[in-house]
Formats: sequence, structure tokens, C-alpha cells
Amino acid sequence: MFRMIQLESLIPETLPGVPLFIGHGEKQVLYKDATLPFTNYDKSRLLDNNVKFLFVRTGDMAHYNQYVESNLPALLSDEQLQPHERQQLLYQASVNYVHEVFDRPAVAVKESFSRCRKLIENILNDIMDSNGVMTALGGLVDHSSYTYVHSVHVATYSISLHMKMFSLGRDELLDVGIGSLFHDYGKVYIPKALLDKPGKLTEAEYEELKQHPVYGYDALKDLEIFSPVSLGIVKHHHEKENGKGYPDGLSGRDIARSSKITALADVFSALTTNRAYREALPREAALEIMVGEMDGSFDPQYLEVLKDLH
Ligand SMILES: [Fe+2]
Ligand SMILES: [Fe+2]
Repeated sequence: MFRMIQLESLIPETLPGVPLFIGHGEKQVLYKDATLPFTNYDKSRLLDNNVKFLFVRTGDMAHYNQYVESNLPALLSDEQLQPHERQQLLYQASVNYVHEVFDRPAVAVKESFSRCRKLIENILNDIMDSNGVMTALGGLVDHSSYTYVHSVHVATYSISLHMKMFSLGRDELLDVGIGSLFHDYGKVYIPKALLDKPGKLTEAEYEELKQHPVYGYDALKDLEIFSPVSLGIVKHHHEKENGKGYPDGLSGRDIARSSKITALADVFSALTTNRAYREALPREAALEIMVGEMDGSFDPQYLEVLKDLH
């Protein structure tokens, strides 16, 4: 099995350290052995041939991810890349990170926590420096599960909304970003068939799905590295303003602002992303549903701020 990688994520004259493959019809064929560096010549020839993506074996992704992450400072300051290309690299690296740790036992989250912090730090910087994040998020891909791209959406929207609404210190923004990146971590304990089920869920299935905030909270709390703000987001991102949410049925002021904001970001991401059972909605249509059909779910003041997100 192979995963697609962006050509821009390879820095010329470095050694990615994994075999690279190139698409050939429906197949992937070996392009470069792990012992060979990726060169400027390689890059220009591939671009001349209109090749934008290469492939890495699924089993090599962890190695490739660390290669990209350790080069992020260079990639993010590379003047030869367009601003949107740099953003794309950062947000895609974050999706790949989520995929990697959600696929492994919880202890992997602990081992890789410094990587998580660095990625969120970079996202924080990007949100502060750029005029908007929406376009950068539009091109993210992961063909195996919706949750990975969604996690990065929610972290990014949530940080942006917090910045718009409150003047928070960097540490708190970091906690918000980490918590919202992991808000659906509990889904790793829910069968994939249930997560991907296209039709309506039975009552029992829905009850099972509703356990994910508690599953996630319990697993991450036990690692003893997540802050109370981050853990609160994981546990309470499905609470509703009117008290009809889960798992605790909290309402109004009893819901922490970071959970309220993540709840908004969560639903907005879900509605504006392609799913197995329906196409992505344009933002206006998504906002209309959140204000109309879902009336009572969100704090109206917070909803107003979401309308300005770009
Ligand atoms: Fe969730
Ligand atoms: Fe979610």
C-alpha cells in the first residue's frame, strides 16, 4: 500500500531516507532508492513532467513524517514556495501526524507529544501571519479516514476563533490547539465500520458512537501530559448550549468557552467537508444550518464570530 506525498515536501539535496515511488498508470513504480538523495535535478525534471505527487510505502510514513517535520522550519521560510504552498505543507504534515498517532496505541501519543506541540506552534504562527486559513485547509487529503483531515480543521478553526474572541497567552492557545487536534481521539476505540456507516445509525450504534468523548478523555488523561483545558475539549466538544448534548448534558455557562468554540469548529468542519453520505456544503449553507436547524446548540455570540472566519 502507498500514500501520496507532495513533491514540495521534499527538499532538494536532502536524504528523505525512504524509497520514493512514482505513479505509473494505476501502479506505483520505484523512483528512487532510500540511499539516494533527492536532488534539484530530480525536482525540476518532475515539475517539467507535471508531476506534483510522489508515493511512499504506508509502512514508511512515520519515517517520512519525521523527515518533513524536521525540515518544516526550512520549508516554511522557503521563498521559492508560494505562501499557499507553504501552508499546504504545514497543514498536510499535521494531517499525516494525526493519522500516524491515531493508528498506533495511546502510548505513541505520549512519545510523539513534542512533535504535536511543534506542529501546533507552527499552526499558531501561521494563523497570526496569514490573512486566512480556509484555502489552505481546502486541499488537505487523507484517503483512509475523514477524522484525520477533520482534526486539523477543528484545531485550526478553534485556534482562530479563540484568537478573534479573547486575548489569550500563547500557552493557552497551544492547549486549545492540542485539545482540538485530539478532540475525536476516542474514535480510535469505535469500530471503523460504525464510523464509516453511510446510512442512518441504529439507536444502539448511536449510543456507542456517543461514547467517544469519554473514551478519548479517559485514554488521554491517563497519559498525564494533556492540560485540563485540552482534556476538557476532548470530553465536552459535543455538549450543547441548551443542555441537549452529551456526555454530561451541560448547558450555558457550565460549558467551558474552549469546549463551546471547539463544538462550533467541529460542526462547521463536518458540514463543509465531503462525507460518504453527502457532498460538502458551501460555508453559507453550513452557517444557515447552524443558525436555523441547529438553533439552541450554540452560544449565539460565538456563532457571530464564526461568520467572520476566513
Ligand atoms: Fe466528536
Ligand atoms: Fe469531530
